[in-house]
Amino acid sequence: MNIDEKEFFKEATLRICGSLAIEKALGDFFFYVRDYIPIDSVLLTYYLTEYGVSRTFALATVEGGKRVNLETHWPPEIHALAEKGQFPVKFYSNRSDQHPILKYAFKNGDKPPLSNIIVRLNIDGFWIGGLILSAEKQDQFNEEHFRLACLLEPPFAIALCNSRRYQELHEIKEIFADDKEFLEEELQRISGDEIIGSDFGLQGVMKMVRQVASLDSPVLLLGETGTGKEVIASAIHNASPRRSGPLIRVNCGAIPDTLMDSELFGHEKGAFTGAIKQKRGRFERANKGTIFLDEIGELSLEAQVRLLRVLQDREIERVGGTESIKVDIRIIAATHRNLERMIEEGRFREDLYFRLQVFPIVIPPLRDRIDDVPLLAQHFIRKKSNEMKLAKVPVLDPLAINRLMTYHWPGNVRELENAVERAIILSHGEPLTFSHLRLSKSSSALPTNHLHDSSLNLHQVMTAHIQNVLEMTKNRIEGERGAANLLGVNPSTLRAKMKKLCIKYERKNQL
Ligand SMILES: Nc1ncnc2c1ncn2[C@@H]1O[C@H](COP(=O)(O)OP(=O)(O)O)[C@@H](O)[C@H]1O
Ligand SMILES: [Mg+2]
Repeated sequence: MNIDEKEFFKEATLRICGSLAIEKALGDFFFYVRDYIPIDSVLLTYYLTEYGVSRTFALATVEGGKRVNLETHWPPEIHALAEKGQFPVKFYSNRSDQHPILKYAFKNGDKPPLSNIIVRLNIDGFWIGGLILSAEKQDQFNEEHFRLACLLEPPFAIALCNSRRYQELHEIKEIFADDKEFLEEELQRISGDEIIGSDFGLQGVMKMVRQVASLDSPVLLLGETGTGKEVIASAIHNASPRRSGPLIRVNCGAIPDTLMDSELFGHEKGAFTGAIKQKRGRFERANKGTIFLDEIGELSLEAQVRLLRVLQDREIERVGGTESIKVDIRIIAATHRNLERMIEEGRFREDLYFRLQVFPIVIPPLRDRIDDVPLLAQHFIRKKSNEMKLAKVPVLDPLAINRLMTYHWPGNVRELENAVERAIILSHGEPLTFSHLRLSKSSSALPTNHLHDSSLNLHQVMTAHIQNVLEMTKNRIEGERGAANLLGVNPSTLRAKMKKLCIKYERKNQL
């Protein structure tokens, strides 16, 4: 037969490289090559150096191509040949049962094909696998068949290499997707998605959450520290159509100005010293999800300008990058600050404020929803006992509820959470008394959350504090329930201090 080698090579290569699914490519090749080489099957294998094992992972017969996972264990002498690089590069045998290497495949009592052409596949000088063309009967192949088969080494090497890489990538992708799902579930479990008080003190807030969740509009969460802004942000995300996307938090107060751009927008490799690899910024990571800009009031004016640009254009540019990247994100911002006052003082941009405050939600301080305290306390007792792996969940002392409900909670829910943890540690298994909570509700006038206000100097703070305590003790100074004892000072010291601060008082009638 007079074969046009160029034509053969072209047609065979088109089939070998015709599909990323190697079994399909091999099947197509089989039906083409049968007219030129009398084969019954074709196999692709790769060799695992460490184990002396070769693995067949695709084969084709008249029934078509398929993926397989068959191992051939080679005896040590063959393994040694391979290690020393003395395994023949290509050869054929028409009596494989008598061939010095191939005879090992005949040990199991089954009947491997007697005629075989073996072509080793190399890429960049590395042995990556082998091509085996086989016929069941003996004496099927001649020099011409062997030569044709050898022509096909390069396309088979490329196809094998690509297919294995593709498969590896696919496996890695599946592992990552699985890890991601697992970690997200873990995070959810750690942060806990239970919102206590959603039917009580947070009823109004939750109603707004439901109204706004399904939309894409920005939300601005306002409230003192520890009121639950982060909890509400994740509630909005979880109730939104973006819930299967990421919720990425940015603590604007915690990122140094110099790193802000690279954190938010990412950077290209080599954009600055230390940028050893490309990094995606938080906006990019939040794509198809929600970005939660916490403590937005802490952003520098320059950072505010850049943020505004993202909000307007919905695209970002990595530091050191040249192309802009579209981002599809929903923005939730939060602050405990009075942004309007910051605008007056020139510390917050008005245009950014108007973009963010499309839908403001104010989360009331805990002292204004004091009825939620018992439920929250129980919730945290359970949560903390769980975290501390306590065998028995501690109970509340009967007097504790009253104490918890008359305290003014300047640090809000977070302070309550910490107080519970502390009480559990101090209790040694006894009922929780919360005796370390001292101040009464009336001290809510205390400006604990506004330490930035310069008008509140130390004297004013002390005056307000002493007045509050006096109010609570009905102006009683001495005795166990007197102001001096509550403040932890001598009555005479307190009187001297009051004189100095010009605090007037009259002893009130006690009920
Ligand atoms: N309604 C609530 N139900 C359950 N836990 C809450 C609630 N509000 C706040 N927390 C918890 O209190 C702590 C402080 O809440 P966080 O959302 O971080 O407050 P903020 O962001 O306003 O400072 C967190 O541990 C949070 O889980
Ligand atoms: Mg917070």
